[in-house]
Amino acid sequence: MLVNRNPLLFDITSECKTTKARVGKMVLPHGVVDTPVFMPVGTQGTLKSMLPEQLDNMGLQIMLANTYHLGTNPGPEILKRAGGLHKFMNWDKPLLTDSGGFQMVSLLKLAEITEEGVKFQSLNEHKGEVMLTPEHSVEIQNAIGADIIMQLDDVITTTSPDYDRIKESVHRTTRWLDRCIEAHANPETQNVFSIVQGTLYEDLRRRSAADLVKRDVNGYAIGGLSGGESKDDFWKIVHLCTDLLPKGKPRYLMGVGFAIDLVVCSALGVDMFDCVFPTRTARFGCALTMTGQISLRKPEYAKDFAPIDKDCSCHTCRTYTRAFLHGIVSDLPVACTLLTEHNLAFQMRLMRGIRDSVREERFPEFVRKFMLDLHPDRD
Ligand code: GUN
Ligand code: ZN
Repeated sequence: MLVNRNPLLFDITSECKTTKARVGKMVLPHGVVDTPVFMPVGTQGTLKSMLPEQLDNMGLQIMLANTYHLGTNPGPEILKRAGGLHKFMNWDKPLLTDSGGFQMVSLLKLAEITEEGVKFQSLNEHKGEVMLTPEHSVEIQNAIGADIIMQLDDVITTTSPDYDRIKESVHRTTRWLDRCIEAHANPETQNVFSIVQGTLYEDLRRRSAADLVKRDVNGYAIGGLSGGESKDDFWKIVHLCTDLLPKGKPRYLMGVGFAIDLVVCSALGVDMFDCVFPTRTARFGCALTMTGQISLRKPEYAKDFAPIDKDCSCHTCRTYTRAFLHGIVSDLPVACTLLTEHNLAFQMRLMRGIRDSVREERFPEFVRKFMLDLHPDRD
């Protein structure tokens, strides 16, 4: 077992000479994470349709859990009694929890944000209004015990044109970071990450990053993107933010998981990503491949005895055909398991490809091949 008093050590081991991509090792209390990394999302202490032992066998190094859902069920008391989420869910590798506010604002259109926190209608049996404050979010995340915990932030979608409100959200997010740091009970074992906000306004992103960097936390996230803006705007802001953040600390782009964005944003110097997309789309019968997504529900797969992807070495592709998966995809839960396993293996293979090619000084060629496989007609 690694002894690590600082709860996060980040070592950049290779850098691309052409792009801003870098490869690193993040050492956390529950293990080592190779970066750039994609982190799949589990909700109620489980990644839907997968057992933690299966994820471990696949070599997964870190996953996300959801503060709001766990704060409601089983709740902080039971989590504390269980000795934290790692023990409760049988996962002894690194975990990251998001702060909960973003989920409320995106799930419940009724959430209201004030200086105190995020107010929303409770989803559980104790009906009524609940206020999620920065302090409360940290308290729940301390009970969960994840290796990385996120500050509560004031997220505005990128399609909002309201400059004054976005400016307020940037300043409020910094004030909420200070409250999170103040309330944090386990600084020796859990890392707080702050979150840069400011939507598509470059001056606000600069201000946000400058204020957060002064706080000197162990890692920085880029938030509020992937909300309907154009790819050009999205990538421009990521490029700006990675220039503004300290080189020696991990940078986490929140809510991003499409293959093309993982490749482009790794080139822009992002180290960590998360998204529900690969696992959610699996449950709708959709498999990811290097040439795009395929829907196994389509009748053309009924007599297709090839694996989902002949180049994939995952358990699903080694064992089952498209025809078999087509036959069970609409009504059997096991199809969710098989497709989720493949889609996670796809994300992990892509990230390994990025890391290996940066290490071996052939990342630009990797990107070129990736783009040509995805758009073969664009030679
Ligand atoms: N998930 C995706 N985007 C965001 C964000 O801006 N803030 C938080 N807390 N979570 C996110
Ligand atoms: Zn596969």
